Amino acid sequence: MSGIRITGLGKALPDRIVTNDDMSRIVDTSDEWIRTRTGIRERRIARGNLPEALKNEQVPGAAQSAPERAETCTALAAEAARRALQDAGTKPPEIGLVIAATMSPDFFSPSVACSVQELLGLPSGIPAFDVNAACSGFVYAMTVANAMMQQMSIGCALVIGADAVTSLIDFTDRGTCVLFGDGAGAAVVRKDEGCSFAGILGAEGKRSALSIPVGGHMLMDGRDVFRFAVTVVPRVLEELEKETGRSLGDIDQIVLHQANDRIIEHIRRKLALPEEKFFRNLQHYGNTCAASIPVALTEMKEQGLLGPGTRIFCVGFGAGLAWGGLYLEFQ
Ligand code: UT7
Repeated sequence: MSGIRITGLGKALPDRIVTNDDMSRIVDTSDEWIRTRTGIRERRIARGNLPEALKNEQVPGAAQSAPERAETCTALAAEAARRALQDAGTKPPEIGLVIAATMSPDFFSPSVACSVQELLGLPSGIPAFDVNAACSGFVYAMTVANAMMQQMSIGCALVIGADAVTSLIDFTDRGTCVLFGDGAGAAVVRKDEGCSFAGILGAEGKRSALSIPVGGHMLMDGRDVFRFAVTVVPRVLEELEKETGRSLGDIDQIVLHQANDRIIEHIRRKLALPEEKFFRNLQHYGNTCAASIPVALTEMKEQGLLGPGTRIFCVGFGAGLAWGGLYLEFQ
């Protein structure tokens, strides 16, 4: 196991809170159906992606959008990255690598990572690129960052998970549109030989489970993805145990991709683990794809769950099909 450590975390979410009741005004669904099938109560949708029927409505208690605050995938990524740098106390010139995980960039080119480099004034000449591993994107990006940091002389990296995936959702398809939300999370990562890290990656191409054709909308076989998730996650956790020599009992928190509470519960019961071991925030954001794990880590830090010595397993899973696991230690 090699050594890297997350020294700062940040998140950025669109202002507009869209509740399940709001969704029931645009498709034939209900708060009860969405809550019992997924655990989701509300999600954030970027202003530019809001369906027509919700554009001018005010949700009681929702934050007012400042018109000048951009909520594109790039803007959310940059905001999360800026906050992660602040949290870490890291200045832009210290960054030696930028990797952004996304499957819903605003541009085919430049990459979100290069745009963030420009927006934040990160050093010129450093490597910056995107990875697309759908909802496993952040796990892939962290693992690639670690490999590059060990192989090249890079001391500090910025790793981002950002998706404004609702731009690729058909808001007349109740089978998908209630599940997703937009957001971004970012981590500042430093080389640290005293801090163990492990990353496990895998994929098995299967387009029929979940796909987003260029210029089209997301198509998903929900049951297929559900079956895949509840099979692959225990396998990844077992591989992480083997790789790290740490049992699930040694791990403080397990952070699964925040897709569906029923998936998390299914796995928790199968492994006979206590509820407190699984951090969850999907009730507020729905499935934010590559952002889900770094947003969860940011909120865990805000809630004081990432103290010195905290050990975490993260597992991502999703379209590809692709999956991955991380072992993280905090100081
Ligand atoms: O990052 C990975 C992303 N993907 C996922 O996480 C998806 C994983 N899969 C799931 O979470 C579940 O399969 C869903 C929540 C998507 C669906 O739950 P389900 O229990 O598998 O429902 P289903 O697809 O079998 O549909 C059951 C019924 C259908 O009606 P009929 O044919 O039985 O009359 C659907 O049309 O529920 C209907 N339905 C809805 N009803 C109300 C589907 N979506 C909705 C909806 N509101 N939003």
